[in-house]
Amino acid sequence: MARYESPAWQMGQRVRLDVTNLMATAVGPDNGVDEAELERIGPRAAQALERLGDLRARGQVEWMDLPYQHETVERIITTADRLASACDTFVVLGIGGSALGTIALRTALLHPFHNQLRPDQRNGRPRLYVLDNIDPDLIAGLLDLIDPQRTIFNVVTKSGSTGETMAQLAVVRERLKTALGARAAEHIIATTDPTQGDLRRLAEREGYQTFDIPPTVGGRFSVLSPVGLLPAAVVGIDVRELLAGAAEADRYCRGRDLEANPALFLAAALFLLYQRGKTITVMMPYSQRLRDIADWFRQLWAESLGKIRRVDGRVEHVGMTPIKALGVTDQHSQVQLYMEGPADKVFLFVAVDRYDRTVEIPSSGTGLSSLDYLGGHTLNELINAERIATTLALAEHHRPSCTFELPEVRPFTVGQLLYTLEVQTALIGDLLEINPFDQPGVEAGKIATYALMGRSGYEEQARVIRAKLGQARRVI
Ligand code: PA5
Repeated sequence: MARYESPAWQMGQRVRLDVTNLMATAVGPDNGVDEAELERIGPRAAQALERLGDLRARGQVEWMDLPYQHETVERIITTADRLASACDTFVVLGIGGSALGTIALRTALLHPFHNQLRPDQRNGRPRLYVLDNIDPDLIAGLLDLIDPQRTIFNVVTKSGSTGETMAQLAVVRERLKTALGARAAEHIIATTDPTQGDLRRLAEREGYQTFDIPPTVGGRFSVLSPVGLLPAAVVGIDVRELLAGAAEADRYCRGRDLEANPALFLAAALFLLYQRGKTITVMMPYSQRLRDIADWFRQLWAESLGKIRRVDGRVEHVGMTPIKALGVTDQHSQVQLYMEGPADKVFLFVAVDRYDRTVEIPSSGTGLSSLDYLGGHTLNELINAERIATTLALAEHHRPSCTFELPEVRPFTVGQLLYTLEVQTALIGDLLEINPFDQPGVEAGKIATYALMGRSGYEEQARVIRAKLGQARRVI
């Protein structure tokens, strides 16, 4: 049915990558990459691409095929349309990769004040909340707001057992049972592994509607699965267009030519710069709407690349520390450090050519120079001028950067950006010789929590932890 073919409007909606200021010609040989080293690393980068292709062919990286899950998408859209008329509030319960993609899509593709709009201004679509924390004030505060009769909860966990999410579910389930009795289950939708995990078992027992997260789609690579697509579709985001954007990126992220494949180029360039001490990656969109994509990327980059062991078993602490910044806001917070502090960072800017709205700055005629020069311009011109100025100033300080250029912020361009960043992460993981798809460090924290909260089977860990806590040293 849905073939996601390129309609005419897609012309001119290609996301481009400007790498001028990553090059030694712009930032000097110690801080940028040169043509010769790019040429030298080309074959190795191509091998990384080939290995990723092999994993894909063997069905081990199903996130790469999410742009083509047509049947699932049609089911999501049908369900979403039904839910949109059955509820006025849609709440996602989840954490990490089960929440950050949805938050990124919501911020990028909805009105900035969606939840405050009147229902008719939201096209009758519900408000959307994503609870990615267990702060009791947050959870209780949201429960103060909602009417259980008109609220649907989407509990999202790949493992089906994450403590934070299961605790949220327990609280919500009880609240729904008190308010709705036997109809409580109709207000819970579970998005989880197709067969494994306690959430799957509970959903079967209690009769929740469910959506599957394909087995080899890990949390941080799941935004284009039902994890992100169901909430997005419920609030009216065009998920077909989003996937068409991802499919477009899939097309151009397959090529072996660095000049034509942004994911491969960046993986290679950032790898070379990492070897030269650039261990921090700053993502800085000049768009309020893209700020949570930087948050999503932070998790993708940190959890995928931060590892203690190479694939051959060698112990070595590897990783690039991601920092989320926002233009222009962080020009007055972080940029001093970026210009003059340690030369250990690479900057990924995200630019938008055409914002949805144009806001003119009226001529004020006050005779005051700090106001008068702005008159007759637009905020659109100002934000882009500030981005260009920051990029140039960083280059003058020998700080390398590149810029993803989005013609507009819309599902097609957002889909391209997300998919490109995912492929880039997988490829640089290969170059770093680590496994970008596991997260043993996160699991360690989960196990310690189970132990502290008295889960059976974790008694020995609990004993060790309590002994350590007993030796705590405090200053006051
Ligand atoms: O990327 C990951 O795998 C993690 O960040 C998970 O998304 C996070 O730990 C939540 O896990 P789960 O979806 O199993 O509840």
